[in-house]
Amino acid sequence: MPFTLNVNGKTTSVDVPADMPLLWVLRDVMNLKGTKFGCGIAQCGACTVHVNGTATRACITPVSKAVGQKITTIEGLSSDGRHPLQVAWQDVDVPQCGYCQAGQIMSAAALLASKPKPSDAEINTAMVGNLCRCGTYVRIREAIKRAAGISTPRTTQTARAAAE
Ligand code: FES
Ligand code: FES
Repeated sequence: MPFTLNVNGKTTSVDVPADMPLLWVLRDVMNLKGTKFGCGIAQCGACTVHVNGTATRACITPVSKAVGQKITTIEGLSSDGRHPLQVAWQDVDVPQCGYCQAGQIMSAAALLASKPKPSDAEINTAMVGNLCRCGTYVRIREAIKRAAGISTPRTTQTARAAAE
């Protein structure tokens, strides 16, 4: 069944079953592999994309529900990879294995778009559904604050970099 989607500012037509998860369409049909499959049941956040600016689990969103919506994936977050969160992520050296990180950044980006200077509680609420098996939570929160222009104590990584 044909569906017309707006993904990263481009209109694309896909011919897939109506109940196919948006995640499959993005990864397997459109070859946008930045969005990851973790659990498939909305429990890990690896598949987070924006639907009309809201952080959304693509693994449980049927493609039919995405028609007429503005979908943004990590590939479309910025044209040059220089979104403030992407810059902060690099500065803080957040990822370990990296698997969860696209979803983490997309959740954080939705947060900062609605709350440019979030409190710790607001960050925790926005990020609670994004799991990281490598335990990079401290660096994730530091990078979010850095992108928001909120000063933070230095983590071991940044302290080490400053000393070099
Ligand atoms: S893969 Fe969608 S929340 Fe885990
Ligand atoms: S960096 Fe490995 S799961 Fe998050």
